[in-house]
Parts: sequence; C-alpha cells; structure tokens
Amino acid sequence: MRIVIAKSYEDMSANAARMVAGQLYLKPNSVLGLATGSTPLNMYQELIKIHHEVSLDFSEVVTFNLDEYLGLKPEDENSYHFYMFQNFFKHINIQRNNIYIPNGLAQNIPAECQDYERKIQEQGGIDLQVLGIGVNGHIGFNEPDINFEAVTHKVKLDEETINVNARFFANIEEVPRYAISMGIKTIMNAKKILLLANGVSKAEALYRTIYKGITPETPASILQLHPDVTIIAEEGAAKLLRSATHDRTNLGFASE
Ligand code: F6R
Repeated sequence: MRIVIAKSYEDMSANAARMVAGQLYLKPNSVLGLATGSTPLNMYQELIKIHHEVSLDFSEVVTFNLDEYLGLKPEDENSYHFYMFQNFFKHINIQRNNIYIPNGLAQNIPAECQDYERKIQEQGGIDLQVLGIGVNGHIGFNEPDINFEAVTHKVKLDEETINVNARFFANIEEVPRYAISMGIKTIMNAKKILLLANGVSKAEALYRTIYKGITPETPASILQLHPDVTIIAEEGAAKLLRSATHDRTNLGFASE
C-alpha cells in the first residue's frame, strides 16, 4: 500500500486526477472503475480541467461504476447515473456506449448483476478502480460483514449508510434501501486501486482499513491483500495514521 497524505481536499483531488490522467496517457483505452459520492467530485472537476487544458483523451476509455441504487430512474437527481453524467461524462469526450453503470430498474436483478460482471470481463477487467470509503469502512456498497467472495450483487444498505446518505435526499424515507454493487472480489480483481478519503469522519474507518486485521467488519481492510493500492487521504481523514507506524506502509506527503 502506498499512502499519500494530502494537505487539503483540493490537494487530494488534484493528486488523484493526476494519477488517473497518468493511467490514461500510458493506456488510452483503459478500463476505469468509478465511484460517486462527495469524495471524488473535485477529482472529476480536475480531470475535466485536464481534458480541456491539455486534451486528455477519453475517446477510448471504458468506465464501470461501482454501484447504483435500486428503483431510481437514471434521470432522478439522486441516481448515480445522473451524478456521473452531470459531474463528469457530459464534460468529456467519452463514448456513450463505453459507459457502464448498473441498471437499478432491471426486472431481473440477479441477471443484471451477472451481466455486469460478464461485461467487465469482456472489456479485459478493470485497470484502475477509484474508491471512496464509507464511515463504516464500506467500499462500493459492500457493507460490514460482507462476504469477501461476492461479485456484483444486490445489497441491503446499512442503517449507518442510509443515515449518512440522507443528506442528498429530501428526507431519510426517500433513501433507497437496496442497491446493486460490485462485490469485493470484483474490486480486488482490478489491476490498480486508488482509494480516496476526505474528512475526519473517515479517520477511524481509514485507520482500521490500514492498521487493523483484515475483517468483513471493515470491508476496505481486504485492500491490504491487493498488490497495487494507493490511498490518498486528506489530513483530516489521515489524522489517526500519522502517529501509527507499520512496516507495510509508506507514508508520503502530497505537496511537501
Ligand atoms: C459510491 C460508493 C461509496 C462511497 C462512500 C463514500 O459510489 O461506492 O462507497 O464512496 O459511501 O461516500 P462519500 O464520498 O459521499 O463520503
């Protein structure tokens, strides 16, 4: 694991965007795994800026999103379809048919999940997977006590996740209780992983992810077993890491 501590959210985002851009310069037809939520918003803005300023090309890029709520239409402002088009896809030259997001309205959810997994394989697997982390240590919507063997599947959202995500909805009742999410195995199959963490609310989960045992209670802790993980943590999220020492980690500072 490579751990980079960024001095601010903007610094975290700029570093993350540089890493994604570097991946695309090296392999223009990369398959990217993408996350939604508050954390990667500024990274997407930075990538759009790089696209405009130095013509970072997305024409051959293929993307797979981590997850989507069940029951929300793509045009619903809280769907991850809407989020991705609004915050990223409509601003870059990605081809529409290279964009994959689970269909939360599918009639047959198990078939949709299998199909999603098959499409990832058909594209040669994910080259770089971007992740955020939940306050409970989830990645994607793989909530605590997840089966590490799971591939893309229907998940029931944790009470904590429902409470945290209610900030995006008119009221907590509107937060969907179910979603489709890539599984831990899907994520672990990615060639490279970039995990972003912002804010003190993530400090405890990040600490457990890196320094505690690998346990389904902290789904992100499985990343300790992945051969190519970079974590970029803003200082607040990293506040419990600074005093910890561990010989498997390499604490770096993003802009010093
Ligand atoms: C979103 C996702 C989630 C979020 C996590 C953090 O696609 O997969 O795991 O990354 O819930 O969300 P934010 O960034 O809103 O704190």
